[in-house]
Amino acid sequence: MEKLKILIIGAGGGREHAIGWKIAQSDRAGELFFARGNAGTATLGTNLDIKETEISKLIEFAQREEIDLILVVSDDALAMGVVDEFQKSDLRVWGPTKAAAQLEWSKAFSKDFMHRHNLPTAKFEIFTDFEKAKNYLTKQVLPIVIKASGLAQGKGVVICESKPSAEKALEDIMVKKIFGDSGSEVVIEEFLTGPEISIHAFSDGKSYKMFPPSQDHKRIGKGDTGLNTGGMGVIAPLPFITKELMQKIEKEIVAPTLEGMKSEGRTFTGILYPGLILTKDGPKILEYNARFGDPEAQTYMRLLETDLLEIIENSIDQKLDQTEIKWKKDFACNIVLASGGYPGNYEKGKVIKGVNLSPAPLHSNGEGKARGEGVGDSKKNHLALKGTPPQQGGEGIVIFHAGTKMENKKLVTNGGRVLGVSATGDSLKDALEKSYKAIEKISFEGMQYRKDIGGKAFKNLV
Ligand code: AMP
Ligand code: GLY
Repeated sequence: MEKLKILIIGAGGGREHAIGWKIAQSDRAGELFFARGNAGTATLGTNLDIKETEISKLIEFAQREEIDLILVVSDDALAMGVVDEFQKSDLRVWGPTKAAAQLEWSKAFSKDFMHRHNLPTAKFEIFTDFEKAKNYLTKQVLPIVIKASGLAQGKGVVICESKPSAEKALEDIMVKKIFGDSGSEVVIEEFLTGPEISIHAFSDGKSYKMFPPSQDHKRIGKGDTGLNTGGMGVIAPLPFITKELMQKIEKEIVAPTLEGMKSEGRTFTGILYPGLILTKDGPKILEYNARFGDPEAQTYMRLLETDLLEIIENSIDQKLDQTEIKWKKDFACNIVLASGGYPGNYEKGKVIKGVNLSPAPLHSNGEGKARGEGVGDSKKNHLALKGTPPQQGGEGIVIFHAGTKMENKKLVTNGGRVLGVSATGDSLKDALEKSYKAIEKISFEGMQYRKDIGGKAFKNLV
């Protein structure tokens, strides 16, 4: 069988480790390359010294190495048009084009799009002029939501409880430019309440396939308090979402979004990830993402039974409608361990204890082949560890690396979100208990994590 050389272009976080971990399980997976990577991805393949936004370097590498397949999985790369450039150079690439990914990289575009296509979302106005925006604020009811239109690593949204705090947020974003150019345009919108969920669908431009629903926990603090982060923990699937509700979401949100994009000449391929809020008036779209969520991917990769490489290959060939996608019956969770101070300033280089970089399971139940979590010469590990038996952190546990790297032969922190401890189980409770138990063995200076991941899911049941 011909093995594929694969390049994964992304942010070098937990999502990229999880996608690589799943891809590596395919019989057709050959050498894997990551731009960027972390200490976890280095155990699956080779981390390149190229950023996900350095397009010409990426293309030059892919051509020189005769890469068979390129996956573009992070927002910054998609917003730069990395997919379009690879398409021009005749390389086989998976992900949405820049025009399709605009659903994510411009909230102003996505809100107008939702408006044009009658899709359910919060009432809104868009501004590029600070004074006009300030004036509009005076007439609004509180709380009110202010969003930088561009990408801001999940931090560009401020919920304002008072008029002075709203004015300050507006000034911070539009005048002081705390999110850079992302704040040149803002969306001011109505505050909605209800549980938030993440929806994902594979799309090949012709047909689509829904994932089970999942739920991220975006705030840093217990009980959904404090600042927004990239995401502190995910559970999937959601026991409180009925089949009927999923059908409604598919019919009223996912299908018309993909249709709408096609009708505007922006055919969407890759992963469509709408973030929804379940209001008493029905599900509404908070935002679109044009890629796997992080840490949603870390749970989805644990639950996906079908070969991800096969799904991606079939998507590129527009054969998704002929592809059966199977999900395990289990529940999964992924709990993020973050650096002290995150999502604000934090220090790097803290030694991580309790994470064994020796072989970890590719299959969560420990059966079958395994490729390792070793470090050092990744190419050698990649091959040598094939077939090595698993276990890291206990049964059903896989630890995904996010901000980690090797320094003087030690595993150290290298980002805000450091590790994701994922678990599967036959109930959500079981998965969460396993994950929290595994976390007890891991430590680094300043380590923080949410102790209430999944807690709301049980409350939502009653
Ligand atoms: P976004 O990046 O647009 O998903 O926003 C980040 C987070 O801000 C969401 O996950 C919500 O928790 C919150 N948020 C965004 N828009 C609204 C809204 N209109 N009403 C209430 N909360 C919101
Ligand atoms: N889980 C949040 C995000 O990926 O944007």
